[in-house]
Amino acid sequence: MKLSCKYFARIPAIIFLFQSCTGLAAYTMGGNETDRLALLEFKAKITDDPVGVLKSWNKSIHFCQWRGVTCGRRHQRVTMLDLHSKKLVGSISPRIGNLTFLRVLQLEENGFNHEIPPEIGHLRRLQTLSQSNNSLSGEIPANLSRSSNLMYIYAGRNRLAGKIPAELGSLSKLKYLAIYTNSLSGGIPHSFGNLSSLECF
Ligand SMILES: *[C@@H]1O[C@H](CO)[C@@H](O)[C@H](O)[C@H]1NC(C)=O
Ligand SMILES: *[C@@H]1O[C@H](CO)[C@@H](O)[C@H](O)[C@H]1NC(C)=O
Ligand SMILES: *[C@@H]1O[C@H](CO)[C@@H](O)[C@H](O)[C@H]1NC(C)=O
Ligand SMILES: *[C@@H]1O[C@H](CO)[C@@H](O)[C@H](O)[C@H]1NC(C)=O
Ligand SMILES: *[C@@H]1O[C@H](CO)[C@@H](O)[C@H](O)[C@H]1NC(C)=O
Repeated sequence: MKLSCKYFARIPAIIFLFQSCTGLAAYTMGGNETDRLALLEFKAKITDDPVGVLKSWNKSIHFCQWRGVTCGRRHQRVTMLDLHSKKLVGSISPRIGNLTFLRVLQLEENGFNHEIPPEIGHLRRLQTLSQSNNSLSGEIPANLSRSSNLMYIYAGRNRLAGKIPAELGSLSKLKYLAIYTNSLSGGIPHSFGNLSSLECF
């Protein structure tokens, strides 16, 4: 009798433990793990890192302590990735689009090449996209217009070509769009008349 009382008394505790464990597992797999994998994919696309910035991106420390990475206090999700002026060469992994808490991406003054991944448009919280002075080519992805919180886009001094996508005219919070010194053609889309926050162009 004593034993069964003890047993029943323990059930809520066991259920609680079970719930917190599964909750934790789901949390780790869903958020934290997504960010860690996205950062590792980002690192995998870097072909040259002469300064060794990404050496700290290793298993012995949590990714929130990796150089250039800033996480939010509450969720331990990446809110800022700042790797400006680090002499990095490589492409920008499309997996960057999985860092769903990212607000600031600073990659200016490096040797990033290939295209701006359209997956950046998955970043709904993104406010600053800074990638001037690199070797980015291809067109400016129209999907950037889906990052509706974008306020600052710096993409000057690259090798971008094609037209400025008219879709960017829907970025109502856009304050600054710097795309000088590229090979863009076709002029400014009419839709930009709607960009009432735009201060510098
Ligand atoms: C991992 O990064 C830390 C921080 O930069 C460094 O001290 C450590 O030596 C690195 N470990 C390996 C195995 O590279
Ligand atoms: C990460 O991004 C890739 C490519 O964009 C996508 O296929 C995958 O479903 C994403 N994974 C998670 C966990 O969000
Ligand atoms: C562009 O970046 C390179 C390093 O990659 C640097 O040497 C150069 O001064 C930068 N130019 C400008 C105008 O910022
Ligand atoms: C770009 O946006 C369109 C919808 O506007 C979507 O169907 C497509 O999957 C997006 N591409 C990427 C690479 O996210
Ligand atoms: C400006 O925005 C309004 C309302 O969203 C829309 O109807 C109109 O077509 C837009 N103008 C241009 C030139 O895109």
